[in-house]
Amino acid sequence: MSPLNRMKTICRLIANRDRGDNHAERLENFYARQAESYDDTRSRMLHGRQGLIDLIPVVKNSVWIELGAGTGSNLELLGDRIDEIQHLHLVDLSPSMIQIAQKRIKSRNWRNVTTHLEDATKFSPPTSADVILFSYSLTMIPNWFAAIDNARRILRPGGVIAVVDYYVSRYRPDNGWVRHDWACRTFAPNAFAKNGVHPNPDHIYYLHEYFQPSYFAEHVSKLLGPFFSAPYYQFIGNKSG
Ligand SMILES: C[S@@+](CC[C@H](N)C(=O)[O-])C[C@H]1O[C@@H](n2cnc3c(N)ncnc32)[C@H](O)[C@@H]1O
Repeated sequence: MSPLNRMKTICRLIANRDRGDNHAERLENFYARQAESYDDTRSRMLHGRQGLIDLIPVVKNSVWIELGAGTGSNLELLGDRIDEIQHLHLVDLSPSMIQIAQKRIKSRNWRNVTTHLEDATKFSPPTSADVILFSYSLTMIPNWFAAIDNARRILRPGGVIAVVDYYVSRYRPDNGWVRHDWACRTFAPNAFAKNGVHPNPDHIYYLHEYFQPSYFAEHVSKLLGPFFSAPYYQFIGNKSG
């Protein structure tokens, strides 16, 4: 992607007006004009995806679901391991993003991947899942608690949930977790809100409450050089039997 097109996308992110009467319309208005350039721009912004995916055990003949899968770019991060997986379901509510995912699946000749234009809070797969992935999608789902509840419902007992996303800390975090300063807790949620992204202090608590954690890490990513950084976390847990 040329620097000019990259700059155009960044300007669109800054100038986005969050138009639409419901969540699905707002998403599509947001992504329709940037789905083509999404992979290139987000590779510099959505950190920690490769690291998280590397930590997920790939069991032969397992069923994976990505909720809020976007363009399906995370499948590239699986490398050859994708062939071990029996079936992957990519779920997203934006037709423009699903269209890019479909083009990718066709060009890669992946026969074990299906796309679903559906809401992550309601999606029901044909069989229960061994692995569910949320990669920078929970912060874009207004009813994120319903999305996690649904993930728990469609995951088999013992199945794995893996999440990477932006967040901010509570004023007084528990468990020795990182405390972000006032500026971060105030500015990060406001700066992202126009793009429908809502970093939240409660996601990590909800995930730890409803799944048996096996991995949790807190990080900070630099988004616009030294000017704007955003905290993100990686979580892996299991649905208890
Ligand atoms: C920031 S993108 C992340 C895409 C991809 N997971 C990645 O890592 O590149 C968030 C995605 O979540 C999708 N999304 C938001 N709310 C959704 C919902 N309720 N159901 C399904 N997808 C949703 C958006 O359309 C968008 O494609």
